[in-house]
Amino acid sequence: MVNRGKSDRKWKLRLLILLAFFSAGCSGQGEKPKDERFYEDDVTSEKEEYIVVGFAQIGSESDYRIANSASFRETFCEENGYYLLFEDGQQKQENQIKALRNFILQEVDYIVLDPVVETGWDEVLQEAKAAGIPVILSDRSVTVEDEGLYTCWVGSDFEEEGRKAGRWLEDYLKSEGREEEEIRLVTLQGTLGSSAQIGRMNGFAEVLRLHDRWNMLEYASGDFTQSKGQEVMARFLDTYPDIDVVISENDNMTFGAIEAIEEAGKTCGPKGEIIMISFDAVSEASFTAMKEGKLHADVECNPFLAPKVDEIIGRLERGETVEKIQYVEEQCFDAFMDLDAIMEQRKY
Ligand code: AHR
Repeated sequence: MVNRGKSDRKWKLRLLILLAFFSAGCSGQGEKPKDERFYEDDVTSEKEEYIVVGFAQIGSESDYRIANSASFRETFCEENGYYLLFEDGQQKQENQIKALRNFILQEVDYIVLDPVVETGWDEVLQEAKAAGIPVILSDRSVTVEDEGLYTCWVGSDFEEEGRKAGRWLEDYLKSEGREEEEIRLVTLQGTLGSSAQIGRMNGFAEVLRLHDRWNMLEYASGDFTQSKGQEVMARFLDTYPDIDVVISENDNMTFGAIEAIEEAGKTCGPKGEIIMISFDAVSEASFTAMKEGKLHADVECNPFLAPKVDEIIGRLERGETVEKIQYVEEQCFDAFMDLDAIMEQRKY
């Protein structure tokens, strides 16, 4: 790997600042681009000490994503010694690859990648490695030939999330005296090929395999969005008139599914007919759905990953080694808990 000392940063910052200056129009008229302030400063000042981080975000498809982006913007700020280049991939891998190549061209100090899907990253990660730029994966992960292409991954144990949903359903059916019943399930999947989709599906499938009476009628993707969740749920309801359980791989699809169920004149949640299990538990809306009796259980997916990434960068800057996989803490909530008390104590 190329040795990337702090002295490199002086000219890199100049380059970034110049790029920002020219892209904002360098006529000298109108409002100055924010980054020009750095250019005007004496480069021997503290500002040259900023750590430049390029963050390739997936998009803004869900409440989770909004919270995750906010976490990065808040943590990777100038007050904390960072200069953040934030790129929204609009849920397209090609956009994220382009963003990574731009980060490499701009010689950022670190790349943080939240990959929309797991495969197809080998080439661009090799380019980052050849340029000596450490890549930290955040939230979702990649499947690559050589695991040395990235420094570490910070995110959720998606398989465990899926298992938690399965175990919750097991316990619930038992508590209702329904263990011997035939149970018909459908799954609203997230973006196909993403770690969150693959992990949750596989984790839930481990529990599903233990139950001969659980019949998964269909898996179909709603791409983690509310509108597609609603569309797919409406089709499920048309196709299968007797659904007992919906596994929805994120809350936004769940909100869409609830609308579709209500539009079809049906009900879900503890106050209704269909058992509804979801993932994320990020927003107030998720807790409201449980409190209103429309959602049974919600497996948490923690979006506040930036502080951990910050800690990792701090360690790398000090020349320390970091663990390859770092999971964040997560819980499972259900409509039968004291949700008001939980929300009061929650940090988010
Ligand atoms: O990768 C995490 C998943 O991505 C969240 O569950 C979902 O809401 C988001 O879009």
